[in-house]
Amino acid sequence: MKVAVLGAAGGIGQALSLLLKTQLPAGSELALYDVAPVVPGVAVDLSHIPTAVDVKGFGADDLAAALTGCDIVLIPAGVPRKPGMDRSDLFNINAGIVKNLIEGVADNCPEACVGIITNPVNTTVAIAAETLKAKGVYNKNKLFGVTTLDVIRAEAFVAELKGLNVAETHVPVIGGHSGTTILPLLSQVEGVTFSDEEVASLTTRIQNAGTEVVEAKAGGGSATLSMGQAAARFCLSLVEAMQGGDVVEYTYVQVDGSEDAAFFSHPVRLGKNGVEEILSYGELSAFETQAKNDMLEGLRGDIQLGVDFVNK
Ligand SMILES: NC(=O)c1ccc[n+]([C@@H]2O[C@H](COP(=O)([O-])OP(=O)(O)OC[C@H]3O[C@@H](n4cnc5c(N)ncnc54)[C@H](O)[C@@H]3O)[C@@H](O)[C@H]2O)c1
Repeated sequence: MKVAVLGAAGGIGQALSLLLKTQLPAGSELALYDVAPVVPGVAVDLSHIPTAVDVKGFGADDLAAALTGCDIVLIPAGVPRKPGMDRSDLFNINAGIVKNLIEGVADNCPEACVGIITNPVNTTVAIAAETLKAKGVYNKNKLFGVTTLDVIRAEAFVAELKGLNVAETHVPVIGGHSGTTILPLLSQVEGVTFSDEEVASLTTRIQNAGTEVVEAKAGGGSATLSMGQAAARFCLSLVEAMQGGDVVEYTYVQVDGSEDAAFFSHPVRLGKNGVEEILSYGELSAFETQAKNDMLEGLRGDIQLGVDFVNK
């Protein structure tokens, strides 16, 4: 397995790279790419950890070398939020970064599975899809918006509120990755019930959890450590699936014929070639149905913004 992290010198990139250095299967290669001059140092630092994962750093001019032969590419490159910003405020800077890096993917490893972390994910995934289409190499089964952070936050918050064993707490989260487009399905959490007030307050907390971190970091950026863990979980699930394991993760993918939106986070069975099967998210409660209906127009608009960015 060769995995590339693009934006590897950043807050998420470094946390993610550390987790991959210690958890990828023996014999894997880890390529760390960033435009920041510190990236070779990050690679040297990680290379002193005694695991059988080979780490190399690649600077601004070495994108092609970083990507050649990759099976999985994870993209956390870009700028994070500051207090008072929402994820769409990042669009102007991050859209161009994602487009540029995806052109590199198209040219150097068009068969790779790509996980987009850069915000606004609702839009950057559409930018990636359109960029790959323009290059004639788009495979909808190999492009993912990484929404795993919403899932792990929901698991942490539900377990905390209800005194559950967090290792056995599973919370489906569907939709997109911003504000009300994040839709936790609390009605489907097994072995626990919630009052209407708990549903309303937990849903809002999960939707605004990123802002909790942004405000607590007071100008120092957004979630990096929990996001590193979330992206590592997603990547390791993909690796396991590509090696024959049966794995389901919630992730933001293209859903043909969806009545919701062209891209939507669903439970997805992963396999050797990325998406093996997009599973139904099942029945929603009245609260969840209303919340979904209220957010769909916004999510579709976010996606259209990405389509237009590449095509206009
Ligand atoms: N999907 C999610 O759940 C989620 C959660 C948190 C943050 N994010 C997003 O992840 C992104 C990164 O966040 P961060 O906190 O790590 O930011 P950061 O500023 O700490 O790191 C970003 C890194 O990207 C690098 N970079 C910038 N342009 C680049 C380019 N063209 N090629 C390669 N590298 C480039 C920078 O040099 C920097 O090292 C932000 O867009 C943030 O909003 C997503």
